[in-house]
Amino acid sequence: MPSTLAILGGLPLRTRPFSTWPVFDAREREQLDDVLTSSNWGGFPSPNRKATEFAAAFAAYQGARFAIPTTSGTSALEVALKALGVGAGDEVIVPAMTFAATPYAAVACMARPIFADVSAANACIDPDCVKRLITRRTKAIIPVHYGASLADLDALAEISRAHSIPLVEDCAHVPGARFRERGVGTHGALGCFSFQSTKPMTAGEGGMITTDDPDFEQRCQSLINCGRRRPGDTFEGPLMGANYRMTEWQCGILLAQLARLPEQIERKSRAAARLREGLGAIKGISPIARDPRVTREVIYAFVFLVDESALGVSRNRFVRAMRAEGIPCGVGNDPVYRSALFPRESPAYLKACELAGASAARITIDCPVAERLFEHAMVAVPHECLLGDDRDVDDIIAAAAKVASGAAELAAANLDKSG
Ligand SMILES: Cc1ncc(COP(=O)(O)O)c(C=O)c1O
Repeated sequence: MPSTLAILGGLPLRTRPFSTWPVFDAREREQLDDVLTSSNWGGFPSPNRKATEFAAAFAAYQGARFAIPTTSGTSALEVALKALGVGAGDEVIVPAMTFAATPYAAVACMARPIFADVSAANACIDPDCVKRLITRRTKAIIPVHYGASLADLDALAEISRAHSIPLVEDCAHVPGARFRERGVGTHGALGCFSFQSTKPMTAGEGGMITTDDPDFEQRCQSLINCGRRRPGDTFEGPLMGANYRMTEWQCGILLAQLARLPEQIERKSRAAARLREGLGAIKGISPIARDPRVTREVIYAFVFLVDESALGVSRNRFVRAMRAEGIPCGVGNDPVYRSALFPRESPAYLKACELAGASAARITIDCPVAERLFEHAMVAVPHECLLGDDRDVDDIIAAAAKVASGAAELAAANLDKSG
């Protein structure tokens, strides 16, 4: 007799908390103390002492020639597009499944974001959709590496070459990841990272741009430092910049976080393999498979898909029941063009569309895969749940099996809210 689901009044499968995030130890304290006593706290002069050290360490880890610290992943994306010269009247292709910062970066350049559907295999931008959306106005393509998946960089690099359109990789979720043994953020013109609180390495806030191109490096350094030029800079024309400099506090914390990252990546990747095997054995549940080209996997969110008809209950009810069993999980990002954080009635977006020759009222956006994943399929477990031991992983699997076995009862139940 299977035990009653917690959402229907039974005992929750798990009552112990999972690992908490962020993680820190004496290394972060030492770094903060070092900055404190140096009396050199800010990002100016740019790049400052710790910023130079952190940028060098991050670039080496990622395999990039240059790294430029910034205030956030959002500012990194905006600066990367500006370094490419993206401006009014241009179009930038972004995936439907992402956070609002990705299309925002285009609008911040007065360019129009064009939304491409994602592939159901990995929730990342679908290269075939990208091909269909290219116009003479397309000035950049931003693949987002989503959750723990990397976008198909082989196909995207091919499109980029064939059309001479640069790629800007949005690597906010996956610092440290490698595709075919090459770090993410080095497969296109520029890469952008986020160190916001929930990310796999964090200083609360922060971002990074990577590039191999000295001209882009100079432009990015200028754009994050109010448009200043360094002696020896050779890029042409003045740039309108802002203060997007990372503080020395953040750089110190991130040096400590970077030192810990490889061990955490390993641990989470082992947990993910165990989770894939366990969840994959449950009818109606398919974890997103690891692409063999991903030679170093970084988990920001462990994503699995449910098939509502095979499972016998809606994805929304499944997630509510998992939470009641004590498993933190969510449903991923809504298609970003529907997000409250990317209001398509905002004057900035309307203007960007108008400048690119499009009437926002007549724009149709067609991303059925992203819609289906968000509405009916996707379940995302945050990365810190994979930082503990095998018992944590086994509890996630056991909870999913419990909910799956009670699916008929769950589907028939009269729950207080819809879904
Ligand atoms: C895919 C993606 N890109 C960019 C960002 C923006 O990063 P930040 O919050 O550091 O500005 C995020 C943040 O959540 C993100 O998930």
